[in-house]
Amino acid sequence: MEFFLDTGIIDEIKEAMHWGIVNGVTTNPTLIAKSGRTQEEVIKEIVTLIDGPISAEVISTDKAGMLKEAESLAKIHDNVVIKLPLTIDGISACKVLSDQGVKTNVTLCFSSNQALLAAKNGATYISPFIGRLDDIGHSGMGLIEEIRTVYDNYGFQTEILAASVRHADHVREASLVGADVATMPLKCMKSLFKHPLTAIGLEQFLKDHQSTLS
Ligand code: E4P
Repeated sequence: MEFFLDTGIIDEIKEAMHWGIVNGVTTNPTLIAKSGRTQEEVIKEIVTLIDGPISAEVISTDKAGMLKEAESLAKIHDNVVIKLPLTIDGISACKVLSDQGVKTNVTLCFSSNQALLAAKNGATYISPFIGRLDDIGHSGMGLIEEIRTVYDNYGFQTEILAASVRHADHVREASLVGADVATMPLKCMKSLFKHPLTAIGLEQFLKDHQSTLS
């Protein structure tokens, strides 16, 4: 399972990039806005830090506009993945970009039928938003499971990118149901390392080691 950092904040990427577990980065217009910089500035810097897929989202809502934006985003670096919304225009643009060999991440996916459309048009990644589904009382993880079944039924190669991940248990469950990737905020990634028994055990080991010195 690959881990992507879900952020537009360069300092967060710099903090996690040496842990050896960050395989890529996802951004969206909200995350970019939090950085106080333009998408182009942020993406240009991220590609110098992480050698892996970096998702940058188009803002246009029409196919022609999406393709124009995709062209300039893809020019930034080979690792840039074009993030497209799950609309008729987004899915149509996905087909054009896939045929050109440009990597795509279809975002704002909330049903397995939507995921099926993205896979049919050759999306590199599908991003089901599990946290936002949980927020409205639906099962985000159930959706990941459904998409896994549909993709396996037909042998689709589109990778399931669990998005809108809010806590460590989302990562645990997503790995159990076979998501290919989980993208998560820095706080969530840090929490994966933690267990109270690890902290207690380490404290005791260090104390016992000290006792051998005196
Ligand atoms: C990432 O690709 C998504 O845009 C992001 O995970 C959405 O997360 P949120 O629902 O916490 O905003």
